[in-house]
Amino acid sequence: MRKPNIAILGATGVVGREITKITEELGVEFESIKFLSSAKSAGTKLTFKGKEYTLEEATPESFDGIDIVMASAGGSTSQKFAPEIVKRGGLIIDNSSAFRMDKDVPLVIAGVNDEDLRLHKGIIANPNCSTSQLMLALEPLNKKFGIKRLIVSTYQAVSGAGLAAINELREDTEANLKGEKYENKCFKKPISFNVIPQIDVFCENGYTKEEMKVVNETKKILHLAEDTPISCTAARVPVFNGHSEAVDVEFEGVNGKEVTPEEVREILSNAYGIKVIDDIDNFGYPTTRDASGVDPVFVGRIRKNLAFDNGISFWCVADNLRIGAALNTVRICKKVIEMGLF
Ligand SMILES: NC(=O)c1ccc[n+]([C@@H]2O[C@H](COP(=O)([O-])OP(=O)(O)OC[C@H]3O[C@@H](n4cnc5c(N)ncnc54)[C@H](OP(=O)(O)O)[C@@H]3O)[C@@H](O)[C@H]2O)c1
Repeated sequence: MRKPNIAILGATGVVGREITKITEELGVEFESIKFLSSAKSAGTKLTFKGKEYTLEEATPESFDGIDIVMASAGGSTSQKFAPEIVKRGGLIIDNSSAFRMDKDVPLVIAGVNDEDLRLHKGIIANPNCSTSQLMLALEPLNKKFGIKRLIVSTYQAVSGAGLAAINELREDTEANLKGEKYENKCFKKPISFNVIPQIDVFCENGYTKEEMKVVNETKKILHLAEDTPISCTAARVPVFNGHSEAVDVEFEGVNGKEVTPEEVREILSNAYGIKVIDDIDNFGYPTTRDASGVDPVFVGRIRKNLAFDNGISFWCVADNLRIGAALNTVRICKKVIEMGLF
């Protein structure tokens, strides 16, 4: 099997740094690797696998001879470089939302819909962070019981909005504690000691773009019918890292039988990428502090939903930078290499 020439585009960003770290952790095999950013960070140094590399400014020529690009440099940068990468025979695994809903672009969670990778035409998209963790939890349940209806409420950490947002939470909190004024730049409202019911811009239907990403990406990844009722409310919370989700799901069920919390607990306990912590008598449920910095998607508070006919509610927590972006990107990269798809 040939080893690929790899580029990491956006290597200085929050997600790019994680991609770099996880590429080393997962032992991705490569012929060569390079690290790209904008002109701002070009020339800075980074250490990877004990060797020093210099960040290069991304230009179309940067992708000459590159087989796989792991990109996390924003939608407009991906839109600019993806055609250049594809033209040169390369493959881009993209973290932005630029191509996710394109018909010709597989939207993939490694371990959930790997076979979709075979359909790529040079671009593979990584789902939104809140969709990613949800898919790992829902896929085995959908396979067994069939999803009929889904309602998701997200509580999203600031790291999901990049480095500037992490700094804003820290600075705003410090200013607030000192009684000083702080001018917020990343968020529409102060993020310290607050919950903001807006992530991304509003759409015509009153939902935000972030909420509609969860709705549309879920249908695409799980191959659900277009008219499956799904609703999402996404809120930003003053947590540095780790997204939480309250999930209410109604199932078709098997032979009219009611789905029980015990069955769901059993299925998720054996599911790929999931760790169940569900022992309410001993306050056993996952929080963002359990999830930040590690790979599993944690699920707890599994119970019968009181509003649906055949429904289950649960709580789902994960490291948004890892499973929601970088870990999935690197897992896809490994799959692409294993499946000989570059
Ligand atoms: N944060 C998350 O949880 C998350 C999850 C899923 C997807 N994403 C997506 O991943 C992307 C990156 O997010 P992030 O949070 O890592 O952002 P970030 O911390 O702001 O990092 C952005 C990166 O892109 C580079 N960049 C910006 N403009 C560029 C250009 N014109 N050419 C080349 N490189 C350029 C930056 O380089 P410089 O250092 O030179 O500025 C930096 O390395 C976004 O599309 C975001 O929507 C993020």
